[in-house]
Amino acid sequence: MDEVAEAIPDYAALATSLSPVLGRYFERSWSHGDGHRLFDTSGKAYLDFANGIAVTVLGHRHPAVTAAIHDQVDRLIGPTGAIGYSEPVVRLASMVAGTLPEPIDTVMFMNSGSEAVEGALKLARRATGRPAIIAFEGGFHGRTFGAASVTTSSLNYRVGYEPLLPSVYFTGFPAAYRDFDGDDERATNESMAALRRLTSTAVPPSAVAAILIEPVQGEGGYYPAPPAFVRELRGFCDEHGILLIADEVQTGYARTGLMWGFEHAGIVPDVVCIAKAIANGLPLSAIATRRDLQERWGRGAHGSTFGGNPVACAAGVAVLDTIQGERLVENSAARGVELTAGLRALAAEDPRIGDVRGPGLMIGVEFVVDGDPSRPDGLTARAVHERSAELGLLLLTCGPAHQIVRWIAPLNVTPAEVAEGVEIFGEALRTAPRPG
Ligand SMILES: Cc1ncc(COP(=O)(O)O)c(C=O)c1O
Repeated sequence: MDEVAEAIPDYAALATSLSPVLGRYFERSWSHGDGHRLFDTSGKAYLDFANGIAVTVLGHRHPAVTAAIHDQVDRLIGPTGAIGYSEPVVRLASMVAGTLPEPIDTVMFMNSGSEAVEGALKLARRATGRPAIIAFEGGFHGRTFGAASVTTSSLNYRVGYEPLLPSVYFTGFPAAYRDFDGDDERATNESMAALRRLTSTAVPPSAVAAILIEPVQGEGGYYPAPPAFVRELRGFCDEHGILLIADEVQTGYARTGLMWGFEHAGIVPDVVCIAKAIANGLPLSAIATRRDLQERWGRGAHGSTFGGNPVACAAGVAVLDTIQGERLVENSAARGVELTAGLRALAAEDPRIGDVRGPGLMIGVEFVVDGDPSRPDGLTARAVHERSAELGLLLLTCGPAHQIVRWIAPLNVTPAEVAEGVEIFGEALRTAPRPG
């Protein structure tokens, strides 16, 4: 592969026909990936703990996924679901349903996380006959108009696009570290009180079709919802006939040390949105519900030309086989504990870090000024993020000021790679340029 890498030019210089709209975490050009390493076009290797934003969760060119893709390409690339049935699509639907608790048993495939959210919102409105949707402040659910309408993690996702979807309401997310002195109980009580206020002053619960939550807010800052809050939310939805939609686009598929983020609370949502990890890099997403909900939605009420592509689904079958066969839920939990401990040891020596939080392999390291959660330090986070890359470790940032460095290690990461990542990050903390 090294000769290939040397022959490949810097694509950034050739990208004059590419849209400038897309934001990029790195201005580097990538040549190839191998396991947990990504190689740039100069041949430099990076330990990839970004995973294309939680997508290539088994690493690059995973042999089982690559073989499944090759095999399916040689057999049948299309048609997708609208034309009829094919083996990998049917098989993956039943495998995905099998990972979910009863009564969830029905899966509809689409292509992206945004489309999964979009579908979930349409299902909720039509199946309940109610107009309103409640989402959480700071949430990110995607870029299409419906998904952007329930997104408030950044103004940039909304400004200039108004009017967005009507009858969308927002309530405070229980971000314990940021808003409640790290107190989960206060976060739970005050956030539930805010929701009750909203539904007694702005929109009655009887008009609400669905409440949409990320079990751990992703783009918004890697803030986990306290399990007690999610349980109370479930109770609130049950009391009022409201559907609870779990956006598991980022948290799903073992990312948080359990197969699904909602499992931390021991509840079952009505609708689960799935994407990112599902096919280790091929475009595929899904919504999963109990059957009667999709029946009430109605035949032909929603659809997709490309959704449920047989090649992506064949990759998806290999992904789930690997997660189950290699016990990667357990690995995510165990490596997550090690990684969190390593990062907390670094944080104990570095006053710029206000918080290190999990769960599992969805870990945020938040930089704040003078230990004050209301004073995000995005400049330092970004400097450390870039320095880590220079030293050969790919991470991402999130949060409104990009003040959180987020760790999204592959699910099959090894203890040695966890130690390597922590060591490089320690070096980046020591040597990153200090802003100002
Ligand atoms: C929680 C969540 N929902 C939805 C989306 C949108 O997914 P996509 O970019 O595939 O449309 C994302 C993407 O980051 C996400 O993190």
